[in-house]
Amino acid sequence: MVDILPLSSYPSYIDLLPSIQTCNITNLPENYFLKYYLYHALTWPQLSFVAVVRPKNGYTKHTAPDGSGAGSVAEQYPKVVGYVLAKMEEEPTDGVAHGHITSLSVMRTHRRLGIAERLMRMSQRAMAESHRAKYVSLHVRMSNTAALRLYRDTLGFEVETVESKYYADGEDAYAMRMDLSNMWVDWAEIERKDRERAASDEKDGDEGDEVGELGKKEEEKEKMVRVKVGRGLGVGDLVEKNEAQTAQ
Ligand SMILES: CC(C)(COP(=O)(O)OP(=O)(O)OC[C@H]1O[C@@H](n2cnc3c(N)ncnc32)[C@H](O)[C@@H]1OP(=O)(O)O)[C@@H](O)C(=O)NCCC(=O)NCCS
Repeated sequence: MVDILPLSSYPSYIDLLPSIQTCNITNLPENYFLKYYLYHALTWPQLSFVAVVRPKNGYTKHTAPDGSGAGSVAEQYPKVVGYVLAKMEEEPTDGVAHGHITSLSVMRTHRRLGIAERLMRMSQRAMAESHRAKYVSLHVRMSNTAALRLYRDTLGFEVETVESKYYADGEDAYAMRMDLSNMWVDWAEIERKDRERAASDEKDGDEGDEVGELGKKEEEKEKMVRVKVGRGLGVGDLVEKNEAQTAQ
């Protein structure tokens, strides 16, 4: 069973970075220092995802020091079988906020199972929802048929241009991109709906029926006060007031 997790969700995602690096080295000639993975994980933790195979019998709390009984540590650790390393372009030349796929690969043993497609779709959604990325860009070797099929035919990327001798060995790259603005979340609309729902709840005033005598007495003693929680608060309520200014 393969799970796709955001890099940020693993209890200590830093632990997984060396396995992600190993997956990259195994599958691609474009490799990076470990600190580059760390930089992605710390700066854009929502955008990178990892495909892992969990231990057969789940995780156990205690492992015997000799590795017996509950299974050795290596057996307990999730095995990385794929990843997408993604970021927001830090200084976009066109001035448009957009995401970029730094690297993507899936171990040979787990290919053609839809893992790369899921990794890509999850990263693209996160780019649009959490960073309002207008589009996502990437480079791919002109000879990389599998990746080209994935990007162009399955996901809907378009070739923007050919970058001559982009790769260290002199191969040209397709620079591809895909629009993400149709995935943007309209937070103003969501907040409006939340406010409407809260207002109609308040009008109905339905707190459920009294449950027995005990419940009735408790209710008499303590009067319930309705408070606003969650998204219904709106951003305005979360802004700290500048007391100095109001005093003037
Ligand atoms: C490219 C790569 C990431 C695809 O991973 P994957 O998990 O096997 O891909 P998926 O199973 O999600 O495939 C989705 C679609 O991509 C296309 N595709 C994937 N592998 C393909 C292949 N070998 N030949 C032709 N099309 C392929 C297919 O259209 C496929 O849909 P289908 O299986 O329904 O036909 C993987 O082959 C890989 O890691 N290659 C080496 C590293 C690499 O090239 N990375 C990309 C660098 S830009």
